[in-house]
Amino acid sequence: MRTKIVAGNWKMNNDKDATKSLLKDLKKSVNNLPLKNTRVIVAPTFVNLSSAIKRTKKTEIEVVAQNMHQAKNGAFTGEISAEMLKSIGVETVILGHSERRTLFGETDAILAEKVDTALGNKMEIIFCFGELLADRKSENHFKVVESQLKKALFHLEAAAFKNIVLAYEPVWAIGTGETASPEQAQEMHAFIRKVLAEKYNQNTALAVSILYGGSVKPANAEEIFSKPDVDGGLIGGAALKAEDFTAIIKAI
Ligand code: G3P
Repeated sequence: MRTKIVAGNWKMNNDKDATKSLLKDLKKSVNNLPLKNTRVIVAPTFVNLSSAIKRTKKTEIEVVAQNMHQAKNGAFTGEISAEMLKSIGVETVILGHSERRTLFGETDAILAEKVDTALGNKMEIIFCFGELLADRKSENHFKVVESQLKKALFHLEAAAFKNIVLAYEPVWAIGTGETASPEQAQEMHAFIRKVLAEKYNQNTALAVSILYGGSVKPANAEEIFSKPDVDGGLIGGAALKAEDFTAIIKAI
């Protein structure tokens, strides 16, 4: 039985006080939920990771990083290494978010290096990928997604996928309110599993949790999460409100 996951990507939001306040509300609302085989994850900004980890000790809430650099250390102004994240207790990192790809030039090759560095530091990865609107309109979305997976992940052995959560985020659905339909999400998630089974084996394909991200809200979460190959969500805007994020967790 695959692990269900609801992860909140806070992006560049919440200063110290807002982080404290949101976590206080989430601890209250999440800690009473009957979470069966479900992980609840939040991804604050770098500057709030330490305090967030301290505030969520002994709770159901896991704190993860939104990114990391692929180098061990060195002249990379403004960057954060895997070892630095591990040193403050971060065990999981989001990689490949479309905003990192489009706004910060992260290529499939760079992401393959980041994947290797994270795994080399015994970190778990939430790996994001997804097509642009133009890809979907031209019916290239399957080809694009397969290429993103192949170029960044398919150099790995099957065993590595025990430490990888996949997050399909169609770029045209991120922050737009244009959510993929539950059928579109299921179709792509099933395709991803097929590609994994062909590359590796059926067991690997069936074991990997695949999250959907892109305008998940309390109103649409239950139907999206009800699909057989959807194992949860990677939530942006709705994760910034304790009430909405909790409602989405309840929908899993
Ligand atoms: O990483 C999750 C994020 O990209 C989705 O954002 O605001 O569409 O839920 P949002």
